[in-house]
Amino acid sequence: MPTWIQLVFLACGVCFILALKGLSGPKTARNGNILGAIAAVVACLMPFFWSDLHLRHVPLIIIAIAIGTIGGVYGARTVQMTQMPQMVALFNGVGGGAAALVALLELHEHVSADIHENWFVWAATAFTIVVGATSFAGSAITFAKLQDLMTSRPVVFPGLRYLFGITLGAAVVLSVRLAIAPSVWLAVLLGLIGLLFGLLLVLPVGGADVPIVISLLNAFTGLTVAAGGYVLSNVLLLIAGTLVGASGTFLTLLMARAMGRSVANILFGALKGGSTLGAGVASDRPVKSVNPEDAAIMLGYADRVIIVPGYGLAVAQAQHSLRELVDVLGERGVQVDYAIHPVAGRMPGHMNVLLAEAQVPYEQLREMDEINGDFTDTDVVLIVGANDVVNPAAKSTPGAPIYGMPILNADEARQIIFMKRSMRPGFAGIENELLFDEKTSLLFGDAKDSMGKLLNAVKAL
Ligand code: TAP
Repeated sequence: MPTWIQLVFLACGVCFILALKGLSGPKTARNGNILGAIAAVVACLMPFFWSDLHLRHVPLIIIAIAIGTIGGVYGARTVQMTQMPQMVALFNGVGGGAAALVALLELHEHVSADIHENWFVWAATAFTIVVGATSFAGSAITFAKLQDLMTSRPVVFPGLRYLFGITLGAAVVLSVRLAIAPSVWLAVLLGLIGLLFGLLLVLPVGGADVPIVISLLNAFTGLTVAAGGYVLSNVLLLIAGTLVGASGTFLTLLMARAMGRSVANILFGALKGGSTLGAGVASDRPVKSVNPEDAAIMLGYADRVIIVPGYGLAVAQAQHSLRELVDVLGERGVQVDYAIHPVAGRMPGHMNVLLAEAQVPYEQLREMDEINGDFTDTDVVLIVGANDVVNPAAKSTPGAPIYGMPILNADEARQIIFMKRSMRPGFAGIENELLFDEKTSLLFGDAKDSMGKLLNAVKAL
């Protein structure tokens, strides 16, 4: 590889690191994203300027890039915020599959040209093939689960744990065999075993745990790409893969901690017999409902209000009218904050991104640990499309799917208003006692519709 291309790759690697740093804060995220995207484009263009590479099939490569670009731009522009996890799953799976295919082709070329490599290179090749295939198949299943193309509940069948163990054992044995005596057929078989392993790993994971598995598979893809970088002696792939692998691993651990679960419990909970998703039946117990006018009086004459946003806010796209409501309450002298639970919504930072889109000042967003002590001094908590993140069962009901998850202490406020459409439970599928609390009133309806009415009623006070 010419020195100048190595230097460009190194610069791109530095840009990836700076991009990640930028993505860690709301003010720098946009620039970080742009920097990372530019570095990726520059890196992809390099092979075209590398004359010694004797690039073949250039028209096919350009057509493939064009198709990928059109699909990627269309997907990114049209995807709904609530569908982001599925899109990440799709892109991630394609990345893992691509890395596995590249390793397979590389092995095919070396074996046909009778080029000998040391065992470690073949071991890295085997790792890329099996983990890349696992990531591809696993991501395809997570996509299907989140897109409602199949049930999002854990899928288990008799003998699953044995089949899982046998597949894992076969993957290890075949990888060792490939490292000692590489062969294309062995590699193809290993790829198929990897696909089966990906299916068996993700099928038993259900409901609320699926986004965490996406993050774990993302880490797998990163490691696959890093190993692919080693096989191809490409430093940039090594850097980029390691960054994705490390950040995916951290994100997985952080999400698991925010839900009060271990990663092992998330992955293998259903294998041990316990479902990770509750029954999900709408309750018919009596509750106190409220109309927008009465809710407006409660909010308009309060001193202190906390807003708890959740998944339903994103579904209803009510963030703009919510911000307007908070502005109007602020003008009336009400102190209002947003309480942000780390796993509210369906992806990390979901509420932050949603509210930033509605130009909510970042200072008004308060993290769970920071605001949890304030609920006792709060007149009204307005819960907009959130459920699990305020469900006291997380503290009081051992055995509940969310037991152990830290929650927002909404139950400690003087009055609670829930905005939701029905008595259906949240993502974990379990009843929320807070809905039946005597301090609680329910404002039924689509959050956007109800928020508009509530806003007008507060303005009319
Ligand atoms: P959920 O518990 O899923 O509750 C969402 C609520 O929104 C439901 O009660 C639903 O009730 C209501 N809703 C839905 N559409 C609505 C609409 N158009 N208008 C008004 N209300 C609407 O949400 P949450 O409290 O944000 O909790 C997040 C869940 O996802 C947790 O279980 C968490 O563990 C899980 N999870 C999150 C992540 C990340 S990283 N965020 C990752 C993995 C898992 P109705 O149907 O009655 O309207």
